[in-house]
Amino acid sequence: MACLPAAPPALGLRRWLGLGFFMLLCLSLGYALEKKVVKTKVGEKVGLPCCHEIPSSESLHNYRVYWQKNTTKVVLAYAQGEMIFKHKQYENRTEMDIRNLTLWISPVEILDNGSYQCVVQQLRTLQNSFVVCDEPVTLFVTADFSKPNVTTEVSAKSCESTEMVVRCSSHGGFPRPKISGFLNNKSVVWNASWVSESSLSLYNVTGKLWLNVTKDVSFTCSVEYNGFAKSTSLLLQKTSNCIVPTVPPSYNVITASSIIIISFLLAITLAARYLPRRVCSYCSKHQDSVEEGVKECTKPPMSSKVSSETSSL
Ligand SMILES: *[C@@H]1O[C@H](CO)[C@@H](O)[C@H](O)[C@H]1NC(C)=O
Ligand SMILES: *[C@@H]1O[C@H](CO)[C@@H](O)[C@H](O)[C@H]1NC(C)=O
Ligand SMILES: *[C@@H]1O[C@H](CO)[C@@H](O)[C@H](O)[C@H]1NC(C)=O
Ligand SMILES: *[C@@H]1O[C@H](CO)[C@@H](O)[C@H](O)[C@H]1NC(C)=O
Ligand SMILES: *[C@@H]1O[C@H](CO)[C@@H](O)[C@H](O)[C@H]1NC(C)=O
Ligand SMILES: *[C@@H]1O[C@H](CO)[C@@H](O)[C@H](O)[C@H]1NC(C)=O
Ligand SMILES: *[C@@H]1O[C@H](CO)[C@@H](O)[C@H](O)[C@H]1NC(C)=O
Ligand SMILES: *[C@@H]1O[C@H](CO)[C@@H](O)[C@H](O)[C@H]1NC(C)=O
Ligand SMILES: *[C@@H]1O[C@H](CO)[C@@H](O)[C@H](O)[C@H]1NC(C)=O
Repeated sequence: MACLPAAPPALGLRRWLGLGFFMLLCLSLGYALEKKVVKTKVGEKVGLPCCHEIPSSESLHNYRVYWQKNTTKVVLAYAQGEMIFKHKQYENRTEMDIRNLTLWISPVEILDNGSYQCVVQQLRTLQNSFVVCDEPVTLFVTADFSKPNVTTEVSAKSCESTEMVVRCSSHGGFPRPKISGFLNNKSVVWNASWVSESSLSLYNVTGKLWLNVTKDVSFTCSVEYNGFAKSTSLLLQKTSNCIVPTVPPSYNVITASSIIIISFLLAITLAARYLPRRVCSYCSKHQDSVEEGVKECTKPPMSSKVSSETSSL
């Protein structure tokens, strides 16, 4: 579409040849337009490529180079090998490579976002100059949002469900973000969400949601901007306190359970006292068994042992 007016009208038998050339032109143009997109983040250093590289046999003296933004604002201008203009907004932040004419910006600011253009003119004589190339470069600037802060506030709870207000907020990013929410990976619609823009053109985003949680669910809040995303997940718990729904858990339960525990402990103690005697009938054979056990049971088993020995003899 963009290259239609530039294409010469195809005539007669040369139609196909012309079409081929036209397609090639379009392809290369499309490729160039597609390729000249630069993405960067606030505070970083970025290089915007130009469309021409000055061969080592020549020098910048024979050229005029203009870097402009949005075709209206001149960022930087070179003529006869010297910088003749630099926009105040780019002062101390920009440099141009004198060979490949790359425009370096460091540190990048949000206002640098936009479409740039590199225009190169070659001087043949003092009166005669021609445009070598003229190409746009798009600079996409992004600033990272903070990791979303998700907070919950229980507004009401019953045995079946917990009603809560979920809030998600993230700040200090660029460009304008989109906020989304997921309940067990299922997309949810925020009851309310808003974006505020500060004087620095950084955005803050907040979302608010009312939920009726009937079982534990995982919740994710995601903030998306310019192909990037920051998200936070957490488990929303149904804060249930209805273990025994019919009988209210009273002292009866506690006393009943303590009686059970006490009698169990009692049984163990009794068993512990009774058990050594039973063990003795076996331990008598082993001379070096536990001292206490041996002491307690030396008398009765000895006789039995003797009797058994005598009987066997
Ligand atoms: C231009 O040259 C610089 C080094 O001088 C290099 O880092 C940069 O990648 C070059 N850019 C292009 C588009 O060739
Ligand atoms: C670029 O220029 C056009 C018209 O010249 C204007 O409508 C647009 O707002 C400008 N964009 C920026 C980012 O300055
Ligand atoms: C650029 O740097 C010079 C010298 O370091 C300083 O005097 C000037 O104020 C700076 N300009 C801007 C716009 O920061
Ligand atoms: C950044 O610049 C690009 C290219 O001009 C434009 O499409 C985009 O809308 C700009 N982004 C913002 C947030 O202004
Ligand atoms: C998250 O938000 C809560 C309530 O606004 C605040 O108290 C807390 O400090 C925030 N946490 C972080 C990490 O920003
Ligand atoms: C949600 O999706 C992620 C990755 O897509 C997966 O690892 C996770 O198990 C999913 N969780 C649930 C509850 O489906
Ligand atoms: C919030 O969403 C719930 C359901 O998700 C809906 O019942 C309620 O009316 C909504 N409230 C507002 C203010 O949009
Ligand atoms: C965005 O959030 C930051 C940090 O919480 C705060 O300092 C700033 O004032 C907020 N900006 C706007 C426009 O709300
Ligand atoms: C929340 O869910 C429970 C159980 O499904 C229901 O009884 C209750 O009315 C719901 N509350 C709201 C505010 O929708």
